[in-house]
Amino acid sequence: MSIRTLDDLLAEGVSGRRVLVRADLNVPLDKQSGAISDDGRIRAVLPTLGALVEAGAKVVVCSHLGRPKGAPDPQFSLRPVAGRLGELLGAPVHFATDTVGESARSTVADLADGQVALLENLRFNAGETSKDEAERGAFADQLAAFGDAYVDDAFGAVHRKHASVFDVPARLPHVAGRLVLREVEVLSTLTADPERPYVVVLGGSKVSDKLAVIEALLPTVDRLLIGGGMCFTFLKAQGLEVGTSLLEKDMVETCRNLLERSNGKIMLPVDVVVADAFAPDAAHDTVRVDGIPSHRLGLDVGPETVAGFSAALSSAKTIFWNGPMGVFEMPAFAAGTRGIAEAITKADAFSVVGGGDSAAAVRALGLDESSFGHISTGGGASLEYLEGKTLPGIAALEN
Ligand code: 3PG
Ligand code: MG
Repeated sequence: MSIRTLDDLLAEGVSGRRVLVRADLNVPLDKQSGAISDDGRIRAVLPTLGALVEAGAKVVVCSHLGRPKGAPDPQFSLRPVAGRLGELLGAPVHFATDTVGESARSTVADLADGQVALLENLRFNAGETSKDEAERGAFADQLAAFGDAYVDDAFGAVHRKHASVFDVPARLPHVAGRLVLREVEVLSTLTADPERPYVVVLGGSKVSDKLAVIEALLPTVDRLLIGGGMCFTFLKAQGLEVGTSLLEKDMVETCRNLLERSNGKIMLPVDVVVADAFAPDAAHDTVRVDGIPSHRLGLDVGPETVAGFSAALSSAKTIFWNGPMGVFEMPAFAAGTRGIAEAITKADAFSVVGGGDSAAAVRALGLDESSFGHISTGGGASLEYLEGKTLPGIAALEN
């Protein structure tokens, strides 16, 4: 891989130079208070930002947050992120109230060596996500004007062909930041030569999001454990009734086909926690998967499933986990996710947690982050990497 790195850039000397850093500061915000509920992605870019600050660069950070529709939308402002980033860096972060407008221009112009600015949400501009090359390019020109060099440390967004990820590096000397390097290093060991047994745990709500990765992983893995909302479409494919559980009807046939081709590698839940409603206080019970009542919905995997999955994980040497096993945000339906997470930490294996939700689950459940081998900051990005897809943000760094 012919990617230049942050160390190469630092070796050239960055003192007094403006360095534009694309970060993925797309953190979850509390729906009521708007407060940052998990700052993992902010902490993950500190090594890169800290090194640039120490080397005396003028650091201009840009990111998206949520999915605003190409125009300013206050609920997706990065302002709270600037505050938190400043606390973590131990120095104020100068916040620009627009992305490439008057505020951004003056904020960048006023930066002293070793200071950090954060631009407002990239996606407040239609050019960031546009499919039209010219529109994206015009926005990339404006962004590139804020840097003498570009660092991509936004691993969570490398699978997006967006202006700040794909078009800006074509306009500036570009390198990979510490986070992007580490993520690619770790994920490449999973695709190249994982130590066996290699066990993958997939959860989350939608089968359709995970189909491509299941296809790609089946030949490689020794075991594929499936829980979360997506397991019900697989259970249906086995001819079971799933009540009012999440079900992707048009995926049932595909799941049946995958099960037939999986050589017994796919393990599904044997029991689930079913509830009267999708609510934290809903009445609930554990039932066998062949006994799901027609009026109830599954919101977690059951204890026998946790035991079976844990046994499969206990002998693993390599583990990749993406997607919660149940609605872990509600304590009544968190035991499955907690049980699987604990089994992963107990295994004598190199474990990788992929993605926003699973990483947030690890922290929300109060598990020790250091007992996992690597916690990826990219959900979609890590899955697409494992699928073997070309990631636009990585490809752009290779050129
Ligand atoms: C994520 O949270 O998955 C990344 O920040 C990418 O966001 P996106 O899916 O809205 O492009
Ligand atoms: Mg996503």
